[in-house]
Amino acid sequence: MDTARPVPASTRAELGELARQRIGDRLFVSVSNREPFVHSRGPDGTIQVRAAVGGLTLALNSAMEAVGGVWVAHGSGDADRESSDAQGRVRVPPGRPAYDLQRVWLTEDENDGYYNGFANQALWPLCHNAYVKPIFREAHWRAYREVNARFAGAVERVIGGRDAIVFIQDYHFALLPSLLRRRCPNAAFLHFWHIPWPLPDILRICPWHAEILDGILGNDVLGFHTPHYAARFRDAASALPGWRCVGACGLEREGRAVRAGAFPISIDFDGISAAAASAECDAAVERLRDRYGLAGKFVVLGLDRIDYTKGVLERLAAVDSLLASHPDLRGKLVFLNAGAPSRTAIPAYRELHSVMDLATARLNARHGTAVSAPAVSIKEHLHFSEVLALYRLADVCVVSSLEDGMNLVAKEFLAARNDERGRLLLSEFTGAAWELPGAECFNPFDTDHLADRLYALRESGDAGQAETMRSLRGHVRAHNIYAWIGSILDAVPPRRRGR
Ligand code: G6P
Repeated sequence: MDTARPVPASTRAELGELARQRIGDRLFVSVSNREPFVHSRGPDGTIQVRAAVGGLTLALNSAMEAVGGVWVAHGSGDADRESSDAQGRVRVPPGRPAYDLQRVWLTEDENDGYYNGFANQALWPLCHNAYVKPIFREAHWRAYREVNARFAGAVERVIGGRDAIVFIQDYHFALLPSLLRRRCPNAAFLHFWHIPWPLPDILRICPWHAEILDGILGNDVLGFHTPHYAARFRDAASALPGWRCVGACGLEREGRAVRAGAFPISIDFDGISAAAASAECDAAVERLRDRYGLAGKFVVLGLDRIDYTKGVLERLAAVDSLLASHPDLRGKLVFLNAGAPSRTAIPAYRELHSVMDLATARLNARHGTAVSAPAVSIKEHLHFSEVLALYRLADVCVVSSLEDGMNLVAKEFLAARNDERGRLLLSEFTGAAWELPGAECFNPFDTDHLADRLYALRESGDAGQAETMRSLRGHVRAHNIYAWIGSILDAVPPRRRGR
């Protein structure tokens, strides 16, 4: 709970041992919206399986491989049903099975109301400071409640009355803990909220904020990335009838305790570092350097899902301002703006794509030369070896989120830089900025200042680079994904019997 505590595990083997002690013979069940592996039919009619894109599923998969158990998630692939058994189960990861994936089937309408609707048009903007106005529709809320109830039924069937530890992920399942607590008396509930927790005045915008708080309070342990998100949650919860704060990070009502504290998530540092040193990644570095004409250029990288919380337009504005005030940099700088399309069924995301395209075209028209365009948009789901190659090619990796729970790109960039080169410029509004000691932080709203910082970094060359990288990499290597899940398992309460 207290982030200053020593890490309880830092390798997969140590985590396996800790899990044996803490979980014992209890069933470990993880729940998330997105599934870790998706089966789909390729153009030639054969079924293909691929790992889901995203830091969260990648990180949790590393943990599940070490701990084992069952992962319950929405079966979203068009060949998922035929690739699962009659109960919707399949062993994963493909080729080295370590745990069961239990798929939950949703109709298009349900997914639209629950995922595109309440989760991503109400809760997502609400928790990210409402820079995009949240949309609250009764129909979305109804779908959200129904899907949470559907998942409660699925988890209850998986548990089947056994002693269990249920580990719930994220804002898609705010109601699930309380629903499950009533149905599964022999289970303990842990929940990790992967995004920020809103400020009190913003939380109140949501017409159903009390129901949401009540749902989450069904947990035994609730994790956030930073102590200030956890403190905001405790403040909001202790305003509900009967609840009060106890100790440093506890809440209590009628003898029932909930612990709400900081557990900053991380990555499989050694795994990513090894993948970045592989021959496959070396080949991708060569390929991408040629494709984007990077040799001899100062390379600025931004890499995210295309999301309005990531500050993609601010990054473009900063590069525009940099090239406007230093025209001598034209032809010498490349800005790689890599973003995987995301949540494209939602209008705000589609609009962002068009605005980004316009801003990129304008920037290139203003500062491009006959032979080179400074800004390159890479709007595709890259293979992970290509993501790592981009990290390796960057002189500066700019994480410009306007608000971000943690930001795993920052940590992946560090893990990929075995050469201890490159600079990380980190928005001060990320959990990573709070966690990483000595990281270079900036305010992404101040785009002229970001432009100045980029210029200063180019001028300073390699000075101090290796030392900073060594220290940041050392932190992430020690506080890795195994330490994250280990610290959460460490907080697991003892068995409860029909409480
Ligand atoms: C980011 C957030 C997670 C969230 C995920 C969902 O990684 O930090 O909290 O669960 O996005 O993305 P998705 O593509 O599944 O909507």
